[in-house]
Amino acid sequence: MLFNIEGKKILITGSTSGLGLVLAEGLAREGASVILNGRNPEKVEEVVQSFLKLGLKASGYAFDISKADEVERQMTAIEKDHGLIDVLVNNAGIQQRGPLEEFKLEDWNKVLNTNLTGAFIVTNLIIKGMIQRQKGKIINICSLQSELARPSIAPYATSKAGLNMLTKAMAAEWAKYNIQINAIGPGYFKTDLTKALWENKEFDSWLCNRTPAHRWGNPEELLGALIFLASDASSYVNGQLIYVDGGMTACV
Ligand SMILES: NC(=O)c1ccc[n+]([C@@H]2O[C@H](COP(=O)([O-])OP(=O)(O)OC[C@H]3O[C@@H](n4cnc5c(N)ncnc54)[C@H](OP(=O)(O)O)[C@@H]3O)[C@@H](O)[C@H]2O)c1
Repeated sequence: MLFNIEGKKILITGSTSGLGLVLAEGLAREGASVILNGRNPEKVEEVVQSFLKLGLKASGYAFDISKADEVERQMTAIEKDHGLIDVLVNNAGIQQRGPLEEFKLEDWNKVLNTNLTGAFIVTNLIIKGMIQRQKGKIINICSLQSELARPSIAPYATSKAGLNMLTKAMAAEWAKYNIQINAIGPGYFKTDLTKALWENKEFDSWLCNRTPAHRWGNPEELLGALIFLASDASSYVNGQLIYVDGGMTACV
């Protein structure tokens, strides 16, 4: 029962595609009631319907995590419909590539506002309920770029390093309320976000050689860490980032 998440209400942002979608389905298959999110209302509804057809518990709310007013409105609706959230997974994120010296401020801000400030906005609206109940879990989806830089993705790496520190800062303030705040750092997984990479044969071969596991990750391989962090099994784990990266951050 240590890893049981049955009946938990779990909001996972950015869950209409990619890692978020696979993680949401995995959580729902473990008996959680998942609250899906993305910016496109039709896509959100489509994914909710596909979950319901599989007999999974799901609902969905479309909002942009970087727009505070929009998030606040939708969060009020979520709490009205479902009551307080047990687990929040801050997963929504974007990538924008280019040489750092040519990055436009507007593009820099877009990445930071989504990947870092978005997690702050959503969490701050949910945390009051968790503090009141003295129970809750926040899981931030970081990246191996929380630790390692790479040319052409400076705003992304900066945002993910910031999210790692935000995870620690949240733990420093909120662990005393019996709230566990932790992070997962995925390595390389094939999704829309990494399409430019997995379509590039040279990158694909570099990655497989550079990763001790010698391959890309399968999104389902993130589920073990996620279920651990969402369940009572992690009740004394706080402020940690668990890398699920085939060993990439462990070696040069
Ligand atoms: N794929 C990887 O290898 C990898 C590695 C390390 C970390 N990550 C992290 O894992 C997370 C998911 O990545 P992914 O690869 O699954 O990306 P993805 O395939 O591009 O999916 C991103 C999801 O987030 C939603 N989204 C984007 N911006 C949003 C916003 N402002 N508000 C609400 N929803 C938003 C998208 O839906 P809409 O566009 O319809 O809004 C989509 O559902 C990201 O935080 C990413 O940085 C991924």
